[in-house]
Amino acid sequence: MKGLVLAGGTATRLYPLTLVTNKHLLPVFDRPMIDYPIETLAGMGIRDVLVIVGGKSVGDIVELLADGNAFGLDLTYRFQRGALGIAHAIGLARRFVGDDAFCTVLGDNVLLGEPLADVAAAFEASPYGAGTLLFEVPDPRRFGVAEFRRPDGSPADGTLDDDQLVRFEEKPAQPKSHFIPIGVYFLRPGVFDVIERLVPSARGEFEITDVLNHYLTHGGLFWRRYRGRWTDAGTVDSLMVASRLAAEDAERGVLPPPRGVDGPR
Ligand code: DAU
Repeated sequence: MKGLVLAGGTATRLYPLTLVTNKHLLPVFDRPMIDYPIETLAGMGIRDVLVIVGGKSVGDIVELLADGNAFGLDLTYRFQRGALGIAHAIGLARRFVGDDAFCTVLGDNVLLGEPLADVAAAFEASPYGAGTLLFEVPDPRRFGVAEFRRPDGSPADGTLDDDQLVRFEEKPAQPKSHFIPIGVYFLRPGVFDVIERLVPSARGEFEITDVLNHYLTHGGLFWRRYRGRWTDAGTVDSLMVASRLAAEDAERGVLPPPRGVDGPR
C-alpha cells in the first residue's frame, strides 16, 4: 500500500498564525503538525508516500521532511495549485499511485493510540473501493457527519453495532449523528475516475464526502470506528486540543520522542 499526505489548503481558520507560514509547520506539542500524519502512515507499514503541498512556505515543508529518511519513508512531493478541495488534492496522486491501494491522511489530523496496520491490511484484503474511520465528537458541525439507519430503515444515531451507515453530510447545520469521518481514507485507483466526475460543492471545493457517498451507494464503503484518540488541528481551539492530547501521551510515556531526538531534553 502507498501513502498520501495532504498539506495544501489556505488555513484561513488559523489566521494570523498562517498568514506567512503553512499550517502544517505549526507546532503540535513538541513537533511540527505534519509529523503526526507522516507517523500515522509509517505506523501502517507504508514506505512510499506522496506529500501534496500548496499555499504558503511550501519549500519549508520539503526542507523539513526532506527525503523521508528520518521516518523510514521514501517521500515525493506534488504541488496543488489553489485550494480546490480534498478530493481534488487526492486526484493529483493518480500517477504516483499506479495500480496500488493507498491510504490518504489529512495533514492536520492527529491520531494517537490505535495502530492502524491491521485496519490497512483488512482494507487491502477487502473487496471495497474506499474506506474511512469514524470517530465520535461532541460538536460535529464543522466536519463531515455520518447518517445512520437501523436495519428496519428507521433513523439511528450510530451507537449500536448494527446501525447502518447510509450517507455523509459535509458541515451540516443540523448533524444527524455525532460520528464523523476522520481524515483517513483507504482508497484504490478506481477513485480517480470518481473524482473526475465530481462537481464542486456550494463552497467551491471538490468534497471528500461526495467521494465517500459515491461508494456508499455504489458497492459499499469499508468503515471502522477509530478506537484511539483523535483531533484535527485546523482551528485555534483544536490546535490547542491537539497539543494537549500529545502532551498527555508524552507524559504517560506512550508518545515516542520526535525523530532526531533520543533522550530527555
Ligand atoms: O478532519 C476531518 C475532516 O476533514 C472531515 O470530517 C471532513 O469531512 C473533511 O472535509 C475535512 O474537513 P476540514 O474542513 O477540516 O478540511 P480542511 O479544509 O481543513 O482540510 C484538511 C486538510 O486537507 C488540510 O490540512 C490541508 C488539506 N487540503 C485541504 C484542501 C481544501 C489540501 O491539501 N488541499 C485542499 O484543497
